[in-house]
Amino acid sequence: MAEKTVIAHISDLHCGSRYHIPSLATRVVDELNALEPDIVVVTGDLTDMGYRGEFRQAQHMLDRIAAEQRMILIGNHDARNVGDVHFEEMFGARRCDLVTPEMRLIGLDSSEPDLDSGRVGRETHRWLRERFAENPDQIKVVAMHHHLVPVPGTGRERNIVHDAGDLLRVLADADVDLVLCGHKHVPNVWRLEDMLIINAGTCCTHRLRGRVRPSYNIIEIDDDGDHVRVLRKEPFVDAEPAAEYHGIHKSVCGWRHDDIVGNEP
Ligand SMILES: [Fe+2]
Ligand SMILES: [Fe+2]
Repeated sequence: MAEKTVIAHISDLHCGSRYHIPSLATRVVDELNALEPDIVVVTGDLTDMGYRGEFRQAQHMLDRIAAEQRMILIGNHDARNVGDVHFEEMFGARRCDLVTPEMRLIGLDSSEPDLDSGRVGRETHRWLRERFAENPDQIKVVAMHHHLVPVPGTGRERNIVHDAGDLLRVLADADVDLVLCGHKHVPNVWRLEDMLIINAGTCCTHRLRGRVRPSYNIIEIDDDGDHVRVLRKEPFVDAEPAAEYHGIHKSVCGWRHDDIVGNEP
């Protein structure tokens, strides 16, 4: 049986917000430490307003998660009030590249200073093409805060990056397997071309729309890239299968199309 890589995908901690729930944060940390994932990916909005004390609180939470590797990305809330200065000091570069023998995981900065909207940019498109061309056989994963494609139940569309079309072209051409996003706190999985585009909810806040509950994702990837399983995990509740694909056909099955937001489309 193939070995697998387990990615814990958490997002939108919003430390400093009155909707941030410390007991939920503690529970998520405990659950992740029991899970022992290979990689923890945090897709942004660590803070609510980009203030230093909020980043300290996020750092305190994230440092308690024992994972071999982690990737922490900036969100629009973190980029408020020149928060990128604190982000870089505490968490490192806003764009990062994590390579394992089986996988290349690239984290992008989709934020813009003091704006809620997002953009990746042409320079980064070129950089992505070059990075992914280095080893075409690796499993390819991209993570960023803003949405790559629209997500149901997130209101008027202003959440995808401004250059989503061009970025989609780059990612599809590079045969990217998975894209991980956060931002509007609604968990979702879309399949587009041969990619799974996976949004995480907020893991530890009550900044929630409709009937959505706090959650995070657990992503299991066979090291031969032949099987990917996405589990949605609400704190205190058993994980539920959200999507999976098999082999070269990458046929998605099992995504729960229940209306978690509460609005009929
Ligand atoms: Fe958020
Ligand atoms: Fe956000």
